Amino acid sequence: MTTQQPSSAAFTASAPSNIAFVKYWGKRDAELQWPANDSLSMTLSNCKTTTTARKSPQGFDSFSFKNLTITSDQHPDHKVFRHISRIKSKLNRNDHLSITSDNSFPSDCGIASSASGFCALTLSCAAALLDTDNWDDLAAYGSTRAQLSHMARLGSGSACRSIYGGYVKWAAGDSASEQRVQQSWSHEHWALADIIVVLSSAPKAVSSSVAHQAAWASPLFQPRLAGIPSRMQIITNAIHNKDLESLGREIENEALEMHAICMTGAPVINYFSEKTSAFLSWLRAERTCGRLPAWATVDAGPNVHLICRQLDAEDVIRFVKKNWPDVQLIKDQVGSGPTITRAPRGGLDV
Ligand code: PMV
Repeated sequence: MTTQQPSSAAFTASAPSNIAFVKYWGKRDAELQWPANDSLSMTLSNCKTTTTARKSPQGFDSFSFKNLTITSDQHPDHKVFRHISRIKSKLNRNDHLSITSDNSFPSDCGIASSASGFCALTLSCAAALLDTDNWDDLAAYGSTRAQLSHMARLGSGSACRSIYGGYVKWAAGDSASEQRVQQSWSHEHWALADIIVVLSSAPKAVSSSVAHQAAWASPLFQPRLAGIPSRMQIITNAIHNKDLESLGREIENEALEMHAICMTGAPVINYFSEKTSAFLSWLRAERTCGRLPAWATVDAGPNVHLICRQLDAEDVIRFVKKNWPDVQLIKDQVGSGPTITRAPRGGLDV
């Protein structure tokens, strides 16, 4: 005899990645996820994680990613299950959840999959536990966007910015409890594109958690922190004035500074591959000749994000493809932020 029980609703969160123009690099407190500095990012549109969560009659949580399933009874210390436990205790719920997730782009290689991943995980779990896909209802149950951003941050720092669309600032504040994440401009303010040049999709050898810690030993780190307020101001002004040249110059300096800190920290970490350096030299030369109106930033991985006007994106793609025929390109652009939807009720679970 089969037992039938009412199926619980499934909630799907689709959350974009984001690319930092000013990087969050180094943590003042790893436990509280308090960053060493303010950061500012652009939320993307196409590079996203789609995660579906539903309450489950099983006596444990399960998480499936790309056809691999893990369960909380077998892997209680896995970062996904630690995050789910945090969400449950924050929301005062103890239902078990069954979760499936997938990315629209390669993971763990500097395209901030942890940002979209923990953002989507937070939103889908909160929606399933509180049984709503409505942002106002979530807020009424104590999960405002700011609180969801706070929860997402505890999974992965950069995830806190993906809760908002457009251009997003994460202010470190004077204490961990004073940090704030907010949208500075919506996606309609400035139509920028991010052409991601995938030079390698191999997972990175050193996690960003290790690198955040290693940064403090670099002799370049304190000078970096001293220069952050002025860099934030330059980048804020550039976005406000839609001045791509000022933005571009500063984001390249910023990315190179972050990687110089990686290369001079303890342990020494080199996220660049030979191709990264070759590509950046080529980009600078072509831009100087007026053939490539794009500027680069590089996260914790070997891949290059080319920032340009959406109007120029197709020309940039054509030109890069002609000169780098073997690399994969992902076309992305500033986006409006995550969505949550309740799947139509699908009868009874058997
Ligand atoms: O979110 P984490 O802890 O994986 O750190 C990522 C940091 C960078 O992506 C390199 C920069 C940033 O601000 O997103």
